[in-house]
Order: sequence, then structure tokens, then C-alpha cells
Amino acid sequence: MEKAHFLFLVALVASLATASSSTTNVVARNNTNDHDLDALLAFKAAISDPQNILPTNWSTSTSVCNWIGITCNRRHRRVAAIQLPKMGLVGTIPPQLGNLSFLVWLDLENNSFHGNLPTQMVHLRRLKYFNLAFNSFDGSLPTTLSNATMLETIRFGTNLITGYLPQDWSALQNLEFLDMENNQLDGPLPRSLFNVSSLQIFSFTNNTLSGYLPARICDHLPQLKGLYLSNNEFSGAVPAGIGGCPRLQVLSLSYNNLAGNIPKEISNLTMLRVVFLAPNDVQGQIPADIGNLTNLEQLGIEVANLTGNN
Ligand SMILES: *[C@@H]1O[C@H](CO)[C@@H](O)[C@H](O)[C@H]1NC(C)=O
Ligand SMILES: *[C@@H]1O[C@H](CO)[C@@H](O)[C@H](O)[C@H]1NC(C)=O
Ligand SMILES: *[C@@H]1O[C@H](CO)[C@@H](O)[C@H](O)[C@H]1NC(C)=O
Ligand SMILES: *[C@@H]1O[C@H](CO)[C@@H](O)[C@H](O)[C@H]1NC(C)=O
Ligand SMILES: *[C@@H]1O[C@H](CO)[C@@H](O)[C@H](O)[C@H]1NC(C)=O
Ligand SMILES: *[C@@H]1O[C@H](CO)[C@@H](O)[C@H](O)[C@H]1NC(C)=O
Ligand SMILES: *[C@@H]1O[C@H](CO)[C@@H](O)[C@H](O)[C@H]1NC(C)=O
Ligand SMILES: *[C@@H]1O[C@H](CO)[C@@H](O)[C@H](O)[C@H]1NC(C)=O
Ligand SMILES: *[C@@H]1O[C@H](CO)[C@@H](O)[C@H](O)[C@H]1NC(C)=O
Ligand SMILES: *[C@@H]1O[C@H](CO)[C@@H](O)[C@H](O)[C@H]1NC(C)=O
Repeated sequence: MEKAHFLFLVALVASLATASSSTTNVVARNNTNDHDLDALLAFKAAISDPQNILPTNWSTSTSVCNWIGITCNRRHRRVAAIQLPKMGLVGTIPPQLGNLSFLVWLDLENNSFHGNLPTQMVHLRRLKYFNLAFNSFDGSLPTTLSNATMLETIRFGTNLITGYLPQDWSALQNLEFLDMENNQLDGPLPRSLFNVSSLQIFSFTNNTLSGYLPARICDHLPQLKGLYLSNNEFSGAVPAGIGGCPRLQVLSLSYNNLAGNIPKEISNLTMLRVVFLAPNDVQGQIPADIGNLTNLEQLGIEVANLTGNN
């Protein structure tokens, strides 16, 4: 009696597993959620792989937790990390990747991925590290990431991303590292972005961003270490408020349309190592107190009409 019950249960579980499977292969599922397998199979199907790494290493005869580049968490055996940098992969990110609800780490740096970033990525509410740098992603950025509030690192640099940086991104209150360099973003940066007080590195070098920098740029950025805005179309003044970022080490504003004086408040930044302000239309004196900056290693200020005092 007991045994008959048990066998019935086994048969039921087996038929449920088959019914919910999108593959006809015999698949070793163990505890790993079926959705994770389906999402990764959709990802595999969207990739062509000249080095043939995935066809042999992403086999359904073993758990996805054993697949190359995949790490599962210990507790739930759910996919927690995808690490596939520099694998020569060509392809797109399918919307199903947004179903990996336990994903914390996604690193696809330096491959040949292209296409849009699927909006479904916003469902990855545990994601902390999101690196798509050095690929060929195009199109605009997902307008909302407001549920991915755990994000600490976003590296989308060196792609072909166009359009505005969405206002909504200022909801990412744990963001420390934002790298968007070498893309084709335009328009002004949303003011609210300068309110993300966890930010340490802020890099938009080589886009076509425009508009003024906020006068009180540092009021809500106490952790900022690097401000990289060279090669854009920012105009207006170099904000005096820059003196309010006590941890700033790198200030790079060259190749913009900035005008006016170099604010004397720069001399306040005792951690500064590297300053690039040239060539802009910045004029006037180099503040005398800049000599107080004992950590300064590199200073690029080539102004057209310099009246320095040394
Ligand atoms: C991945 O597949 C290649 C063959 O394409 C093989 O040489 C290599 O050992 C596999 N790596 C792992 C970790 O299984
Ligand atoms: C399933 O889990 C068991 C026990 O943890 C393990 O021995 C076995 O290798 C796993 N099977 C696969 C295909 O991962
Ligand atoms: C997985 O993602 C796709 C596309 O976003 C969606 O249609 C599907 O319902 C999702 N499946 C699950 C189980 O969440
Ligand atoms: C990208 O990877 C290639 C090799 O696959 C390497 O030569 C190149 O230096 C890498 N680029 C970056 C920016 O890491
Ligand atoms: C964000 O999360 C809330 C609550 O879980 C959910 O209702 C909403 O649909 C999510 N929004 C997005 C864009 O995923
Ligand atoms: C700037 O970005 C463009 C693409 O937007 C790229 O072609 C160019 O090489 C980049 N310049 C530098 C100096 O990296
Ligand atoms: C930034 O934060 C300050 C203080 O919390 C608030 O007064 C201001 O409205 C915020 N600015 C933006 C653009 O969100
Ligand atoms: C410069 O630093 C002093 C003290 O460290 C501070 O009181 C002052 O507000 C700073 N000036 C600016 C412009 O941030
Ligand atoms: C720079 O050093 C001089 C001499 O020690 C001092 O008088 C001045 O207040 C310092 N300036 C700043 C901005 O700290
Ligand atoms: C420098 O400034 C003077 C007076 O403001 C102006 O006449 C001159 O044209 C400027 N020179 C350059 C190279 O901008």
C-alpha cells in the first residue's frame, strides 16, 4: 500500500517534469528550477559560438549548475552567476534571460553580442553586477530598472547604445560604478542621477551628451572618486560645486564646450590625482592653491587665454 502510493507519486512527479519541459531530451534537473534551464537554453539558442565552447559544455545531460560559466547558489541551486567574458560569443540576449530571478552576476564583457537590451532584464531584482562592456549592443537603454535596485555595477561601455540616459535610473540607490563610455548617448544627464549618493565612478567619456553640469554637482555625491565626462558636448561653466566631492581623485572634463574660469574650489580636492580640463574654452587663472594638491600626478589644463601666475 505504502509502496504503491510512493510509485504513483514518482510517476506523477516524472510526468509533471516532462510536461513543464520545453526540451524532449532526458534532462537531469535535480533542484535547479526548470525556468532557469529554459532561460539558459533560450540564451544558448541565441548565441553562435565559433569556438564551440557551449555546444559541448552546455549539455542537458548534466545540471546547468555544472555548465561552464554558470554558478548556482548553494541554498536553492538556482543560477546566481553567468560569467562568459572574452569567449568570442556572437549573439543577442533573449528576453527569457529576465526569468533568471536569482541572478546576481552577469558578465558578458568583450564578446560580439549585438541587438537591444531586452526590457525583461528589469525583472532581475537580485542583480548586483551587470557587465556588457566591449560588445556591439545598440538601441536605447531600458527605460526602467527600478526593480533592479540591488545593482552596484553597470558596465555598458564601448557599445553602440543611443538615446538618453533614463530618468528612472536614479532609483538605483546602491549603484557605485556606472560606465557608459564610448557609446552614442545624447541629451542632458538627468539631474536626479547626481542624487545617487552611492556613486563612486561616473564615466560617460566619449558620448554626445549636452547641457549644463549642475552647479551643486557634489551635494549628494559624497563617495565620488572619478568623474569622467571628456569628449562630450557639455556647455556652461565648470561648476564651483566640484569642490564639494571630498574623495574625488580623477576629474576629466576635456573636449567639451565648457567656458568660464577654473573654479578655485578645485584646490579643495586634496585626493585629486588627475585633472583634465583641456581643451575647452575655459579661461582665467590657474588657482594658486592648486599647488596644495600633493597627490596630483597629471594636470592637463591647456587654455587658450591663460593668465596664470607662475
Ligand atoms: C569545453 O569544450 C571544449 C571542446 O569544445 C573542451 O575542450 C573543454 O574541455 C570543455 N571545457 C569544460 C570545462 O568542460
Ligand atoms: C544531483 O544531485 C545529486 C546529489 O546532490 C548529485 O550527486 C548528482 O550528481 C546531481 N546530478 C546532476 C546531474 O547534477
Ligand atoms: C520567460 O520569459 C518569457 C519572455 O520574457 C516569457 O514569455 C515567459 O512567460 C517566461 N517564463 C517564465 C516561466 O517566467
Ligand atoms: C578582448 O578580447 C580580445 C581577445 O579575445 C583581446 O585581444 C582584447 O584585448 C580584449 N579587449 C579588451 C578591451 O579587453
Ligand atoms: C516591480 O516589482 C513590483 C512588485 O514586485 C511589480 O508589481 C512590478 O510589476 C515590477 N515592475 C517591473 C517593471 O518589473
Ligand atoms: C568614441 O566612440 C566612438 C563610437 O561612439 C568610437 O568609434 C571611437 O573610437 C571612440 N573614441 C575613442 C577615443 O575611444
Ligand atoms: C535630490 O535630492 C534632494 C535632497 O534629497 C532633493 O531636494 C532634490 O529635489 C533631488 N533632486 C532631484 C533632481 O531629484
Ligand atoms: C572646501 O572645503 C571646506 C572644508 O574642507 C568646506 O568647508 C568648503 O565648503 C569646501 N568648499 C567647497 C566649494 O566645496
Ligand atoms: C593652501 O595652502 C595655503 C598655505 O598652507 C593655505 O593658506 C591655503 O588656505 C590652502 N588652500 C586650500 C584651499 O586649502
Ligand atoms: C585673449 O583675451 C584677450 C582679451 O580678453 C582677447 O583680446 C584675445 O583675443 C584672446 N586671445 C585668444 C587667443 O583667445
